[in-house]
Amino acid sequence: MSAGPDSAVYGRPPPELADPPEGAVQLSPLIPGSEALEAIAPGTLSDLAVLAPPGTVERRFTLALALRALAADGALTVLAPKEKGGSRLARELAGFGCAVEETAKRHHRVCRTRRPARPDGLDAALAEGAPRRLDDLGLWSQPGVFSWNRIDPGTALLLENLPALAGRGADLGCGIGVLAKAVLAAPKVTALALVDIDRRAVEAARRNVEDPRASFAWADLREAGAVPERLDFVVMNPPFHDGGAEDRALGQGFVRRAAASLRPGGTLWLTANAHLPYEAVLDESFRQVTPRASERGYKVFEAKK
Ligand SMILES: C[S@@+](CC[C@H](N)C(=O)[O-])C[C@H]1O[C@@H](n2cnc3c(N)ncnc32)[C@H](O)[C@@H]1O
Repeated sequence: MSAGPDSAVYGRPPPELADPPEGAVQLSPLIPGSEALEAIAPGTLSDLAVLAPPGTVERRFTLALALRALAADGALTVLAPKEKGGSRLARELAGFGCAVEETAKRHHRVCRTRRPARPDGLDAALAEGAPRRLDDLGLWSQPGVFSWNRIDPGTALLLENLPALAGRGADLGCGIGVLAKAVLAAPKVTALALVDIDRRAVEAARRNVEDPRASFAWADLREAGAVPERLDFVVMNPPFHDGGAEDRALGQGFVRRAAASLRPGGTLWLTANAHLPYEAVLDESFRQVTPRASERGYKVFEAKK
């Protein structure tokens, strides 16, 4: 089947569970270059497949956006692993007034429905999941981005140990820009590239880091060209999720990307959960590796190329 002009997909559902037509427009904020589901004109999509996110508020926000974007009677397929929100999908969709057909396959729940003429409760779910300024942190954020409403304790430990940096640098996996704001407090920093794979995080960071030395990229830093080269420094709190094998490879990829982006003598400042194995990849990629802190279940390293 080939895609009509208004077929779309959110995320990358396993093809054996939901098979959006070839050419369906990608709408995930985690796939750089995608269109934004938020920006789709209401009532225009004929069919949409959604690999639903695990966080409840983010998921209900996404489902509400999906129902808003669909034409009346447009087809909606929503799926998620059972343990990551899948078991709640049918009830959540019913709460929006959808008649749902649910199947269980390969540890997922797959719900098929059509947009009701007048879905219930869209405005409340849209308001609950929208970007907002957090008064206690003085930062813009949004449910679904990393540690969206509190400073991550690993990030906090790095902030406590970070010296004033100088020259050109990057914040890899910048999130909403917490590390970047601290880095840019140093007057000798001349440029800082903020890179993240999450569009919503980059949009929040743009609002949080108003500084002419900052540049922003919605990019997967595993891709060539995503990070400037010959940098003086890199700061990062690499992604970890539950620390499974794939996540470890991603975090270690961050370390290698940092090494490749630094000039000889350039410095990486990294924070991580104490149990994550970064030592070997740091030793292999850097000339000198110095543990700078180890507290509260986190560790901070300074590594010189
Ligand atoms: C542990 S969070 C740190 C966020 C922020 N630096 C902080 O300290 O609060 C890791 C960040 O890396 C981003 N990320 C994950 N995979 C990525 C990739 N392949 N390329 C770029 N960013 C990625 C995530 O979206 C997330 O914002």
